[in-house]
Amino acid sequence: MSLLVWKPNQVIIPDELKAYLPVYEAGEAIHTYIERAFDHNGQRDTWLHSQAVAEQAQHLARQYGANEELSILAGWLHDLSTVIPDTEKWTLACQYGLATVEAERQVPFLLHQRLSAWIAQHVLGYKQWELLHAIECHTTLRGDLELLDKLLFVADKLSWADSDAAPYIAAMRKEAEVSLEQAIHVYIEAMLGEPGKLAVIHPWLEAARYILAAEEYWRSLPALAAPIHWGPVTAHFQPRRILRPDQQALVSNVSIVPMVGDQLVMIRLTDGRWELPGGTLEPQEAPMDGLQREVAEEMGGTLLNYHLFGYFACESSAPIAYRPHIPHPHFIRMAGYGQVKLDGKPLNPADGEQIETVDIVTIEQAEQRFRSTGRDDLADFYRMGYYAWQQSQSGEAFTDTEETGLLYSGSENE
Ligand SMILES: [Fe+2]
Ligand SMILES: [Fe+2]
Repeated sequence: MSLLVWKPNQVIIPDELKAYLPVYEAGEAIHTYIERAFDHNGQRDTWLHSQAVAEQAQHLARQYGANEELSILAGWLHDLSTVIPDTEKWTLACQYGLATVEAERQVPFLLHQRLSAWIAQHVLGYKQWELLHAIECHTTLRGDLELLDKLLFVADKLSWADSDAAPYIAAMRKEAEVSLEQAIHVYIEAMLGEPGKLAVIHPWLEAARYILAAEEYWRSLPALAAPIHWGPVTAHFQPRRILRPDQQALVSNVSIVPMVGDQLVMIRLTDGRWELPGGTLEPQEAPMDGLQREVAEEMGGTLLNYHLFGYFACESSAPIAYRPHIPHPHFIRMAGYGQVKLDGKPLNPADGEQIETVDIVTIEQAEQRFRSTGRDDLADFYRMGYYAWQQSQSGEAFTDTEETGLLYSGSENE
């Protein structure tokens, strides 16, 4: 059945929302219900805006190959929680156990994106994560932004009632015909380019800005931007600083660009090949435990910290998993950079690859060694990790630990 005429069986309005959300009438179309909810609160304008966003989102969905029904639904639903007064949003967000950040305490209106997603999921019963994710970040975007997130964000900005007043909206509209990322870039630079434009800066917006820049850098690395073939495995790299829970569940390998200060650690096998540090997790082994083990085995070192800068979405064409406990045929290989302390020799367990050399080199040397041995994929991989590390040094640190991608921090500082 089409999602647009999907009718929730049972809608139970929690007591604390009964003043704002009317009783759902059995069999009522979802958009009729949303319209009534806005009218009930004297917010006709918000309903007209939501309809405009739905139309714009549908238009963009056709253009960019997104799911049209989810796009329309996202438009209808995204501002539903604005029926809740700002003075109550913080309390409700806490009551519902939503993760919150300081910027939202200061400007509770920002919470309407999370609360609208909560209502869509827990009151109206929508389960499609892309839909909920897009609603949840339609005002600020976030670091793990997907196509529907970008699309709803742009549709929303292009549909503001006073949109023609904002000079950057015209530029966004023009860019949106060519690239959603470019349209978002126009907005973010208008907001963050000069200080003081926004009352508070939500860390998700900074994370989105970072990821969009990282994606642009990544696309300039041809071997990493293209699908990579490792034996029967085809891997697609994606810059990210966090993994969604469904992706975390598929992690079976952890890779690292190991660093000592601002230099890079390289490992060479006994057969002369420079290799990718890290490896496959053992059964039941947590990713950071596995990486600690790999750093000891391959470098004789200790892992001090680890920062995710992306992941490889991998698909194996082999008939069975190459080790029985590995997810198959789809799995995730984490990609991060991190400081290591080299205080021993590679353990080289008998059943693993044998490391002959552990070197500390500059990024230029690392790149040259990988390229001269036909490993452009690893040259680009080290470049990407080095870029992420450089960005972290430039002072554009995030304040929200959820977005930092800091998955592991040992007792010693960098
Ligand atoms: Fe909104
Ligand atoms: Fe909106």
